[in-house]
Amino acid sequence: MTEARKFKNKYGYFTDDGREYVITEPKTPKPWANIISNGDYSLMISQTGGGYSWRGNAGQNRITRSMQDIIKDPWGKYVYIRDVETKEFWSAAWKPVMADYEYYEVRHGIGYSIFNQKINGIKSKMKVFVVPDAPVEIIEITLANESERKRILDVTTFFEWGLGFAPDEHREFHKIFIDSKYEDDINGLLVDKYLWGFPDEKGRNNNISWEYTAFHAVSERPKSYDGDKESFIGIYGHESCPRAMKEDKLAQRVGRFVDASGSLQVELELKKGESKTVVFTIGAAMKSYEDPKELANKYTNVEAAQKAFEDVHKFWSQFIDTEEIKTPDEAMNIMTNVWLKYQSISCRLWGKSAYYQTSAGYGYRDQLQDSQIFLISKPEYTKKQILMHAEQQFNEGDVLHWWFTIRGGGPRTKCSDDLLWLPFILEAYLKETKDFTILDERVSFLDGGRATVYEHCKRAIERAFHRFSPRGIPLMGDHDWNDGLSAIGNDWKGESFWVGEFLYEILKEFISIARERGDYQFADKCKIVYESLKENLNKYGWDGEWYLQATTDHGLKVGSKENEEGKIFLNPQIWAVISGIADKDRAKKAMEAVTKYLLKDYGTLLLYPAYTKVRNDIGYITRYAPGLRENGGVYTHAATWSVWAYTLIGESELAYEAYKRICPPNRSDNPDGYMCEPYVTPGNTDGPLSPYYGRGGWTWYTGSSQWLHRVATHWILGVRPTYEGLLIDPSIPKEWDGFTYRRQFRGATYLINVNNSAHVNRGIKEIYVDGKLIENNVLPDFKDGKEHRVKVLMG
Ligand code: GLC
Repeated sequence: MTEARKFKNKYGYFTDDGREYVITEPKTPKPWANIISNGDYSLMISQTGGGYSWRGNAGQNRITRSMQDIIKDPWGKYVYIRDVETKEFWSAAWKPVMADYEYYEVRHGIGYSIFNQKINGIKSKMKVFVVPDAPVEIIEITLANESERKRILDVTTFFEWGLGFAPDEHREFHKIFIDSKYEDDINGLLVDKYLWGFPDEKGRNNNISWEYTAFHAVSERPKSYDGDKESFIGIYGHESCPRAMKEDKLAQRVGRFVDASGSLQVELELKKGESKTVVFTIGAAMKSYEDPKELANKYTNVEAAQKAFEDVHKFWSQFIDTEEIKTPDEAMNIMTNVWLKYQSISCRLWGKSAYYQTSAGYGYRDQLQDSQIFLISKPEYTKKQILMHAEQQFNEGDVLHWWFTIRGGGPRTKCSDDLLWLPFILEAYLKETKDFTILDERVSFLDGGRATVYEHCKRAIERAFHRFSPRGIPLMGDHDWNDGLSAIGNDWKGESFWVGEFLYEILKEFISIARERGDYQFADKCKIVYESLKENLNKYGWDGEWYLQATTDHGLKVGSKENEEGKIFLNPQIWAVISGIADKDRAKKAMEAVTKYLLKDYGTLLLYPAYTKVRNDIGYITRYAPGLRENGGVYTHAATWSVWAYTLIGESELAYEAYKRICPPNRSDNPDGYMCEPYVTPGNTDGPLSPYYGRGGWTWYTGSSQWLHRVATHWILGVRPTYEGLLIDPSIPKEWDGFTYRRQFRGATYLINVNNSAHVNRGIKEIYVDGKLIENNVLPDFKDGKEHRVKVLMG
């Protein structure tokens, strides 16, 4: 049976179930990668076999070495295959040898990547994945002899050790601290580093050791090994033709006086038609509670690898399979059901790194938003994230803009919106779960003391109340959500109309939370600010046809018809609608302006026109090339919000347009123009002023993945939680006949079948739950752990 190939182009396709993206040509326009993580140990791997590994985060605890290079993708954990008799050699992935192949295929899946190829009569399959519950990656290689004669092959690995802070560009310094040895009882190498990069408890620099021992092991007795880049590559060699491939055995140079790398070589004899599997592992054991030898021995064998691979599927199923949509839009189905959840969890929340960005920490607002991806499958993970972020707050209510996930610490800035994401995401959690006990969880402040989550939120809001201009608009401070507006308001004079709208949205919900808790005084205060915000934002923020983004410390307008560049910004328009700041008339007008100026071929632009001249009084956004990233490109994160806003004003077709244009599989028709992976969201797409209009960039590590999932499910399909129950309010394209949606909600499973034979955008005629007609469009909150059938008739 041949498999259906969805969104096929010259580089690859999705499998029928959408769970794998199969790359058939290694020369993709950019690295097409997979970011694989178990929440602790992570790796990235590209379609050529490039990439690296880390534990915790890739900035403070890199296991294998690499330097960022999107063009050459020159670092990897490589595997060479050599015919011992003919001396011909090639690699198990296309790199580093880049040999001619009979066929080549990479299957990026959920928690694994598989490289299939046939070269020189040998079929090879390399499966790369991370064990779900151990800091270990497995590289399982199966070789099948499809040639006419017996073959003796050796399989040899090579990669460089990083072990600690990255990038370690001062290699001559770093290598001095690494110590490797070969151990017979694990068939492999153990490696320590007597330096991490943190100061010791007395503040003395370079005075603590890396707290782990790394290992690299193999399932067969190796015929040789090496730990030295110099002897392996050779001083005038190259990864594509290393000295080691010209010699019978590896040099076996380990210890303290080498340029630390890891290589193991095993020899396999394959009769004609025979196949054999060999398993390599790489891992890092925390010295205080893990034994590297135990880990190596446990996982470095064929049975354990096969079991661990089955566990990978079970592991990911908990996060992916609790929810499934079936709509007439295949791109929406594939992305919503599989890839956006995977991208958000494996990369954004756990791995925290990708080709375009290596992160060593959590962004205050970033991973809070990302954690909404857990709400349907495992809301307790969202809760954990909320508590973690609450802890990054000072008594005064402000927060760290980001912090290192190992040993903490980060910048305390004057950013104006970070702190407000705590109550915003809390509200999303409460609506999904109705778990109000979270409000009473006690969490510490960075500068001492503890308080309830409710109090943490209250302090954030109160802090925001202290940052208002004389005319009642929130101040910009160092910047708002748009980090690049970095010079507008540092003197606490410039204003952010968007922060005003965001705060308005939060207060709308928080007033009742405060009342429920009997905190009437604060509820009343919130109410007063809430009302005055509406008045002031409309009085000073309305520019005639749309809302302003900001004013500078010098009182100049930003995002106004009076400006030559950056005349209109997206966020203040869509959040005027989302928050309800705009009345019907202004909502319509503001969104008309969005449609006219911002909704372009590849999604909704963040502003228009892009800045071509540097503005010292606005910030680094004006220093980006025009059309790139926040400077007038499609910034996917915010572009997803435009989908939400269009549904709110009843423009379902436009909402769907705004969605379709940023849904990655839809860009498969022009892969050389778009350049990026069609299975994950890009952070940005070049805007009209770029000569590469429509080119994607900064894939994987972007907050847009969770939001693209959310706007599809909550706002297009319109199935979203309210305190009363699950609301059904689709805003879909007229041409759809309907859709189905299976989803968990507060313990029960809802099997929702929406019939749109009436071919309307919106409106519900009847809803039957378990065969009984219900009165409105809110499904009863069963909480019974059972399945419930919901039939929805639109019209
Ligand atoms: C980056 C930041 C995010 C910010 C966005 C817009 O993605 O991580 O926090 O909101 O840029 O500037």
